[in-house]
Amino acid sequence: MESKKKRSSFSGQIGFVLAAAGSAVGLGNVWRFPYLAAKDGGGLFLLVYVILVLTFGFTLLTSDLAIGRKTKLSSIYAYDNIKHGWKFLGILTFIVPALIMTYYAVIGGWITKYFTAYVVNDMNAAAKDDYFGSFITSKVSPIVFMLVFMALTSWIVYSGVEKGIERISKIAMPIIFFLVIGIAIFALTLSFKDADGTVRTGIEGLKIYCVPNFKGLTVKKFLITVLDAMGQLFFSLSVSMGIMITYGSYVKDDVDLGKSITQIEVFDTLVAFLAGMMIIPAVYTFMGKDGMAQGPSLIFVSLPKVFKAMGPIAGRIVGIVFFLMVGFAALTSCISVLETLVANCMELFKASRKKVALILSIIYTVASIIICLGYNVFYFELKLPNDSVGQLLDIMDYISNYLLMPIITLLSAILIGWVVGPKTITDEVTKNNEKFSRKPIYVFMVKFVIEVVMVILILQAFGLLKF
Ligand code: PHE
Repeated sequence: MESKKKRSSFSGQIGFVLAAAGSAVGLGNVWRFPYLAAKDGGGLFLLVYVILVLTFGFTLLTSDLAIGRKTKLSSIYAYDNIKHGWKFLGILTFIVPALIMTYYAVIGGWITKYFTAYVVNDMNAAAKDDYFGSFITSKVSPIVFMLVFMALTSWIVYSGVEKGIERISKIAMPIIFFLVIGIAIFALTLSFKDADGTVRTGIEGLKIYCVPNFKGLTVKKFLITVLDAMGQLFFSLSVSMGIMITYGSYVKDDVDLGKSITQIEVFDTLVAFLAGMMIIPAVYTFMGKDGMAQGPSLIFVSLPKVFKAMGPIAGRIVGIVFFLMVGFAALTSCISVLETLVANCMELFKASRKKVALILSIIYTVASIIICLGYNVFYFELKLPNDSVGQLLDIMDYISNYLLMPIITLLSAILIGWVVGPKTITDEVTKNNEKFSRKPIYVFMVKFVIEVVMVILILQAFGLLKF
């Protein structure tokens, strides 16, 4: 194919690893991982998660990246290239970022709004109960902030793989890393005396986070912990949605893929761990054991209260730094989603990057406006099969992350494990005679374990299996 010759690429291993880590490190690390860890018995969850990353996550990440580098194509054509007749899987995979992109910039806009609020010293207002609710239900403001975030994302993707994505990742990732370490250390120094005289400290919070809590552990609870960790892993590593196929397609043939995969796993898990280390002790100190929330309400409702309790100066600084860090994390993830769509469409329509980036940005700006209006003009409540109630944004999230991703993972494991054989992937990883010590794990996982686990996740997503 003609695009093979002209295809853009990352300059080398570092650029690639940082860009892929940029996609992986996102809101999931900050607003879901710490919550799940606190809910599922602290250290036990951490242990289960790490084991799953090294086996399960590693397998999915390897498959995606190797398919990308081998075919030098994005998902739609990549699967067809691996095995003729499997284009449908590529199309199914394409739908996930196509749905995620409708709402990711909306959340990016919320973060931009909060960052601004701390910069202009509106932090007391931000800590009020109805601040978040009245912001997202207002008609103009969420759209304005979404536009700022969307414009940034579009500009970077428009600028290209090396000059846009790689460049911003090389700046943003070290910043995220140091900021998250900084806030985590600060969180450990906190202490607070409650109205009833109880003193709670950050160090106690750290213990809750890290020490495994086996009290009242049942088989059922353990299974829930495993499934929680599994669901988190998918989303967090950006696998099974074509993103890592596209990023893999930009990796040069001489890069050590196995080593890069380990580095991406370590980076993503480390940032998730540090995010927990900054959030759990802080929330525990000021709000007690029951203060942990997940999703938007953790960072837009609970944390602003924690920042306020830190006092006007420290709270404001931590607020600014925190939302800057989360903003970068969301930006590099959002870029990877848009890039995947752009790359697929460039191949599909044989069009230039600039043209496709521009058109998709316009389409997704309109889509994001509709999602913003989902909280007022188009407000409704729909009961989802897993018993939660959602608006437009939650529905998009549900379809992409709970329904499609396990289905895609199952099909892709069948394709690799049984149709073309794991050798297709392992040969790509060891192309330059690199060591691939986890090869037996890969083969075993892709042939047996993934299939079984995905069937369980799919049944659960459709509400057919309840724990
Ligand atoms: N991996 C990102 C996270 O952990 C989320 C993400 C999902 C990014 C989908 C891109 C696409 O938050």
